[in-house]
Amino acid sequence: MSAAVLEVEGISQRFGAFQALKGVSVAFEAGRLSAIIGPNGAGKSTFFDIVSGARAPTEGRVRFLGRDLTGQPQHEFARVGIAKSFQITTIFKQLSVHENVRVAAQMRQARYQLLRERTAMHTVIEAADRLLERVGLSALGRRTAGDLAHGQQRCLEVAMALASDPLLLLMDEPTAGMSPEETGVMMGLISSLAKERTVILVEHKMKLVMGICERLVVLHHGEVLAEGSPDEIRNNAEVRRVYLGRR
Ligand SMILES: Nc1ncnc2c1ncn2[C@@H]1O[C@H](COP(=O)(O)OP(=O)(O)OP(=O)(O)O)[C@@H](O)[C@H]1O
Ligand SMILES: [Mg+2]
Repeated sequence: MSAAVLEVEGISQRFGAFQALKGVSVAFEAGRLSAIIGPNGAGKSTFFDIVSGARAPTEGRVRFLGRDLTGQPQHEFARVGIAKSFQITTIFKQLSVHENVRVAAQMRQARYQLLRERTAMHTVIEAADRLLERVGLSALGRRTAGDLAHGQQRCLEVAMALASDPLLLLMDEPTAGMSPEETGVMMGLISSLAKERTVILVEHKMKLVMGICERLVVLHHGEVLAEGSPDEIRNNAEVRRVYLGRR
């Protein structure tokens, strides 16, 4: 028995005649930093869509902490503790950095209607301060979000995903389009987040993934090609042939 937080069993996803995922079964243990890797079109983002509740799979089950969430609305996935930060940037560019995080914190706050309004606003502001500090953006709270550098916008997005204090954080290509410096900052942030909660990344940068993740799952044409430690994946002949060999 493992302490799996997330278990998917026989997940398939069809888009018309095309099958993006084909009977994927995999489990992720609590408190670990894992990554899903694989070539473009392998089904990684589709997998994240399913485990974050954005899409119900054509077949298969999704369990979180032993509870079957298959077919539940997305807000139920969020309520039980699953959050996703996206492959594309999803911040409100016209709002300030602090306002962005406040919006995210407020959504969580909305559940605690019993609090007096002023207390609630105070709590939201404090939560936003804490979240910005957590991702290293405290000094930029008053800036317009759209004016931040790309890497800072991605960190802001992480702060927003953290507003719900998720047990499981899903990050789809968190370093996409980043400079080496920005990538370094994001890597550090991911490693530290993984000390407090379960994190699963989708990432193309192999050096990054091999360096910080404890466990890798390789998807290829919608199927699990291999899973294991970075060393096991590096030395897997099949993985080298279809994926790593080409880099
Ligand atoms: N809504 C959709 N309708 C039709 N086909 C889709 C849809 N979403 C994804 N696909 C197809 O499913 C396959 C898997 O897509 P997915 O986005 O999951 O890949 P990925 O592994 O995330 O790729 P990348 O590394 O490029 O982000 C691709 O062939 C894609 O074109
Ligand atoms: Mg993708």
